[in-house]
Amino acid sequence: MTREPAQRSSFLAVLDGQVMTPPPLWMMRQAGRYLPEYRALRAKAGDFLTLCYTPEFATEVTLQPIRRFDFDAAIIFSDILVVPHALGVGLRFEAGEGPRLDPVTDAAAIAALPETLDPARTGPVYEAIARTRAALRSETALIGFCGAPWTVATYMVAGCGTDDQAPARMLALREPAVFQALIDRLVEASIAHLLGQIEAGADAVQIFDTWAGVLDRQSFERWCLDPLARIAAGIWAKKPEARIIAFPKGASAHALSRIAAIGVNAIGLDWTADRSVLRKLGEKTALQGNLDPLRLIAGGAQLDEEILRIRTDLDGVRHIFNLGHGIRPETPIAHVERLVERVRAPL
Ligand code: CP3
Repeated sequence: MTREPAQRSSFLAVLDGQVMTPPPLWMMRQAGRYLPEYRALRAKAGDFLTLCYTPEFATEVTLQPIRRFDFDAAIIFSDILVVPHALGVGLRFEAGEGPRLDPVTDAAAIAALPETLDPARTGPVYEAIARTRAALRSETALIGFCGAPWTVATYMVAGCGTDDQAPARMLALREPAVFQALIDRLVEASIAHLLGQIEAGADAVQIFDTWAGVLDRQSFERWCLDPLARIAAGIWAKKPEARIIAFPKGASAHALSRIAAIGVNAIGLDWTADRSVLRKLGEKTALQGNLDPLRLIAGGAQLDEEILRIRTDLDGVRHIFNLGHGIRPETPIAHVERLVERVRAPL
């Protein structure tokens, strides 16, 4: 049997500095409930964390959207809350209610968090990455990830998701030194977890800062920008070639330019980001995004038009096509197929 020569990944080419036309494509939350094959395996596993911590299952779920849509990158199936779980924080996912954690709200609880991550929790993630990398073709990149310290802290302090992240924001305002200790622990844990994923075979890592947009400018600098810069420095100290994507959802144009100055390989844009203003950032870093996930559900002419606008606005700069946030469970598969076709069509 003759083998195809190894192909270069267009996704990695953009992260490494090239402009690609058409842009490489993947979708946040691309493995998930909108896929019937995901729902079937999820039912077999019984619960979400079993799916995450069983390498065979996590590998299979990671590969499902690649088989269906041939995206240019796979993202390892896991969750940002694996990090607090690996720091000994109780975690469960209750049907229809989202995550529940044992809240970490005072200096004693933060001081009691261990220095290192529990390998019983992180090991299955690294094994799933090694298995997935071995199963993927060379041109399909594999992304590892973690939550940014700020976003992970919002769940740890509240013990669940909240509308306005008020519990973490109040702790940060009332007891900044206590909150700083939590962020510092999460910076170290994030560096270790991302390095573990890179060593296991992840070609790039993405840091999800879902709640970056709720902080004022001072707080953004302290709780989002500084921890991100420290994580990047910690990774590059050990792996100078490591590729890092930052996704500070809801961040202002000013905040995005501060993040670009760290030297990350790409910045994820949510759908509210103004591409005409941000285009010049594309000289410093690749831009990833930014279709509104609701447009993908609604479909029709408005979807085609926005895909074309995104491609045109970012034509000639380093661009990775993605959604502006995760795909929702109610998204019709036919609309994802249409997206793939329109993103890969000649401009
Ligand atoms: O992108 C991918 O396909 C990789 C897997 C992935 C998941 N979660 C799987 C998941 C990734 C990258 C995440 C990130 C994540 N997890 C974030 C940051 C990005 C974002 O979407 O804002 C956050 C805040 C979490 C925490 C989390 N996990 C919440 C709040 C929930 C419940 C809400 C929901 O969508 O159900 C989860 C559960 C979760 N994580 C599911 C999946 C596929 C659904 C679980 C199920 O099958 O019932």
